[in-house]
Amino acid sequence: MTKPVSVGVVGCGYWGPLLIRNFSNVPNCNLVAVCDVSEARLKHIRKLYPEVTAVTDWERFLTDFELDAIVIATPVKFHHPLAQKSLLAGKHTFIEKPMAASSAECESLIEIAESKGLVLMVDHTFLYSSAVRKIAELVRAGDIGDIRYINSRRLNLGLFQKDINVTWDLAPHDISIILHILGELPIAVNCQGNGHVTPAVEDVTNMSLTFRQGRFATIQSSWLEPRKVREMTIVGSRRMIVYDDLQTHEKIKVYDVRVERPPHYDTFAEFQYSYHYGDSYIPHLNQEEPLKEVCRHFIDCIKTSTQPASGGQEGLELVRILEAASASLKAKGAAVILSQSANGSCEPAEALRVVPPLEAAGS
Ligand SMILES: NC(=O)c1ccc[n+]([C@@H]2O[C@H](COP(=O)([O-])OP(=O)(O)OC[C@H]3O[C@@H](n4cnc5c(N)ncnc54)[C@H](O)[C@@H]3O)[C@@H](O)[C@H]2O)c1
Repeated sequence: MTKPVSVGVVGCGYWGPLLIRNFSNVPNCNLVAVCDVSEARLKHIRKLYPEVTAVTDWERFLTDFELDAIVIATPVKFHHPLAQKSLLAGKHTFIEKPMAASSAECESLIEIAESKGLVLMVDHTFLYSSAVRKIAELVRAGDIGDIRYINSRRLNLGLFQKDINVTWDLAPHDISIILHILGELPIAVNCQGNGHVTPAVEDVTNMSLTFRQGRFATIQSSWLEPRKVREMTIVGSRRMIVYDDLQTHEKIKVYDVRVERPPHYDTFAEFQYSYHYGDSYIPHLNQEEPLKEVCRHFIDCIKTSTQPASGGQEGLELVRILEAASASLKAKGAAVILSQSANGSCEPAEALRVVPPLEAAGS
């Protein structure tokens, strides 16, 4: 494709305008039209982007503008119906996280995209941030040693969602980062939480992901916190990393600290832990906006007919973990076992097995 990719964005609420701004600025892309059921939101967009056509009629949006690609930034329950129509109409399709409301919906979208040879990308935004890229680079280079565990906290007051709980809203970011850093899928998920404001919608949850070889990650998600927190600690056998995404310039600190147990000792009384305290340092990161990289990557994938780094398969794997978290929440935190197929991906939701807490604790 030599001409610019013509793009339309559906959903102009909180997140849509950020996508509109970025797709208006990336090379080889022509933002042509936007769509929203709310005329008030379209009025706002028309003021900012008078050259872009803004319509409430989805059918018109789909057919009238010769769009090559459609970007979906609506509430999650509309991701699948809109993405299905977009793909069936032959449009490359970009969906906000989480990809859809169930793994079955994700699978059906992957099938259509594959059968039509279209790019299907999910916005796992943080995989495109220089901080997460740097952490993955340090881990792959062996600087951190073997990863022992990862702890992540994503907390703030609101924004309360009506169709999904806080795990489905906030944890996709933590899960996508953790899977990327560890390079593997979890074998079990536990999740506990409570709906304090709306009883049926959990607003505070604690999730743990268990990986092979005893690797472990915990994720705390909250819409009921006075302060905004975006912190992750990655604990390795050689060094530890603290990643604070709210810092402007010093998002990552690498600590040369570790604890070791002597390999041989005669009696427990002789046993001495050895604590190592070395220098800490702050790696330099470029200041590019992650969402700009996300949008650029989508356009590049269309131009070069390549698979995105966060494509349908990655979107599906993440939704399977969210489904397991929901099953665990229903079972009051019991472990949900995710068996994995030969190619390393988790098996479908039907294969979820809820393990009672006692059995899980003994395993
Ligand atoms: N990647 C990120 O960091 C990030 C951050 C925030 C939100 N999001 C995702 O973006 C999506 C939108 O979230 P939001 O916070 O902007 O929601 P929002 O409720 O603020 O905005 C959604 C917009 O979609 C419109 N809409 C709803 N149904 C529609 C339909 N059928 N057709 C056309 N327009 C429709 C609404 O009128 C509204 O303007 C969600 O999937 C959310 O998870 C991603």
